[in-house]
Order: sequence, then C-alpha cells, then structure tokens
Amino acid sequence: MFDPVTLIEKALEARENAHSPYSRFCVGAALICSDGELFCGANVENSSFGGTICAERSAFCAAISQGKRDFEAISIVGGFKDKPIEKLCAPCGICRQFMSEFCSADFPVVLYDGKSPVVKTLGELLPETFELKE
Ligand code: THU
Repeated sequence: MFDPVTLIEKALEARENAHSPYSRFCVGAALICSDGELFCGANVENSSFGGTICAERSAFCAAISQGKRDFEAISIVGGFKDKPIEKLCAPCGICRQFMSEFCSADFPVVLYDGKSPVVKTLGELLPETFELKE
C-alpha cells in the first residue's frame, strides 16, 4: 500500500526539474506502479505552447515506455516558482482523460495543499468517463 506522504515528497523532488520559463508554474508528479516501482515527472514547457507536456503525463509516459501498465497511485504537486505551495494542483482535463486510459475510477490521485496530502479518486475527478466501445 502506498504512503501518501512519501509520494508527495517524491513529487516535490521531481518538481525541482520542471522546465517552465513561460508560466513559471512548476509541477511534479510521482507515479507508483503496482509492482512498487516509482516513476516521476515534471512539466516541460515549449516556446510553441501547445508542445508543453504536463508533469503527470511525463510520469505516465516514462512508466509506460518501460512496459508498465498497472498503476497504484499518483501524486501531483504544483505552484509558482519560488512561492510556497498553498493550493491543490488538480490535474488538467487532458491528464484526467489520459489517466483514464490506464487507470480505473478508484485510482488514487494524491494532491497537496502545502500542509498535508489530500487523496481523491480518478472517478471523482473525471465522472462519466468517455469509453470507446460499442
Ligand atoms: N501543468 C501540469 O504539469 N499539470 C497539470 O495538470 C496542469 C498544468 C503545467 C503545464 C504548464 O507547464 C503549467 O502547468 C501551467 O499550465
């Protein structure tokens, strides 16, 4: 069973690697696989703004590229560079949809308000999920 506090610490570490010169908003994510392996990600912005990738998709792409398909939980932390984190950084709509490709409605998404972890589920964040089936 994952530890929400440890998962937040790992996301905070990953956030240090954010490349966000345009928004100055730094995001980190830590994804724990069902086999216990951990993959982290940070947001990577691009001068062509649409080329930006979010931290949580970075973490998922790293894991998926290594053959992982079963995931236990993800943590996401975000806030403006050199400012204390004070608010939850909930995943954007694209990331919610992206996660739903690999994770079910009970998948825990751990957020952070600067004080303690707040655990939501993907189903809470993305109800009525789109499914491509007849
Ligand atoms: N961002 C993420 O990394 N994850 C999200 O779910 C929301 C937004 C990043 C993208 C961009 O680099 C910056 O935050 C501001 O939108």
